Amino acid sequence: MTLRAAVIGCGRMAGTIDDEITYDHADFVLPYGHAPGYAATDGVELVAAADVEADRLDGWCDRFGVASRFTDHRQLLEQIKPDIVSVTTPAHARAQPLIDAVESGVRGIYTEKALCTSQVDLDRIVKAVHAAQIPIVYGAMRRYWAGFETARAFLDAGHLGEPRSALIGASGGSAFHTHSHIIDAAMYLLGDPEPAAVQATLTGRADQELGVSTQGDAIALDADPAIGHASIDLAGGRRLTCTDLPSLDIEIVCEEGVLRSWGDSSRYTAMRRQDRYDWEPVPFPSWQARSGTVAILGDLVGAINEGQPTRSGIDIIRRGMEILFAMVASHAQGGQRVDLPMQSRDISVHSH
Ligand SMILES: NC(=O)c1ccc[n+]([C@@H]2O[C@H](COP(=O)([O-])OP(=O)(O)OC[C@H]3O[C@@H](n4cnc5c(N)ncnc54)[C@H](O)[C@@H]3O)[C@@H](O)[C@H]2O)c1
Repeated sequence: MTLRAAVIGCGRMAGTIDDEITYDHADFVLPYGHAPGYAATDGVELVAAADVEADRLDGWCDRFGVASRFTDHRQLLEQIKPDIVSVTTPAHARAQPLIDAVESGVRGIYTEKALCTSQVDLDRIVKAVHAAQIPIVYGAMRRYWAGFETARAFLDAGHLGEPRSALIGASGGSAFHTHSHIIDAAMYLLGDPEPAAVQATLTGRADQELGVSTQGDAIALDADPAIGHASIDLAGGRRLTCTDLPSLDIEIVCEEGVLRSWGDSSRYTAMRRQDRYDWEPVPFPSWQARSGTVAILGDLVGAINEGQPTRSGIDIIRRGMEILFAMVASHAQGGQRVDLPMQSRDISVHSH
């Protein structure tokens, strides 16, 4: 039976972003937006959409051939009763539509990144998804790119020994909006370990001063920060370090070698240590590029129809978000180490 999908938040990532992806990259394969992704995925059909802006809603629905249109997502959920909901609102407007969708009885969620902009909302979302026990997949989607999949299989095959540490290029961009992507990708390559502690220094973006206000345990940032430096201790003695590597590059340091992703998974090199001064290249397999969005949706549809687990999920999404909030806490405390899970739950950030 064909699953019926709906989109809440009819903007770029919901569909029109495909017009912007004109560059040549191994894994930015169209369709990228949610609506064209649904159109290209077997077993699912996009039947309804909601946006608070009526004009935007109409233009978007005309373009993607969606007949049922709502300016209030609650009416959509009540009247359409979709099986799957995409939540593509801005991050600061994510939690309520997402929770409403989960509590309305949908069978699966495809939500954008960053998941939310406050710890209070994170806890509410995690609680709702756990209670409903439904699959949820995430727009921090590089774990569905064929390049990163190939890298994970390469590491799992043991060519370089056990992965111990990931260095990620976190210069440029912003922590929640941009680096939620690359933190998720690095966590995937390290086997998704639970974060244990975070130390970070954040900065404003584009020479803007970062506004940090604190009141008791509450910490609020007036903008989505850039990451100056961050060190994250992970379960099993692993570590994630945000460094000055070129933006979105990742280096996985293993017990017997190093795997480097260049240009956001455009190409890979692997080197294996023979002895202290002698390293040899290890051939990295080629991969067949395909749309990550269609892979995400295939994973979600498979989970709903077959009951199989998805590659992502609320507990994996939560780990990436806890890391980001702990960076804020560490920064606000002068770069102190913050142990996870944090007991105080009142951090918020302004992010799209
Ligand atoms: N995965 C990716 O690579 C990727 C790329 C771009 C954007 N994004 C994410 O997608 C999200 C949306 O970004 P965008 O660039 O598409 O933004 P956008 O502004 O183009 O679209 C957001 C839409 O949501 C609507 N909206 C806001 N509040 C709403 C509500 N309560 N109910 C219904 N509609 C509401 C707005 O009117 C707007 O039309 C962001 O969180 C962003 O980080 C992800």
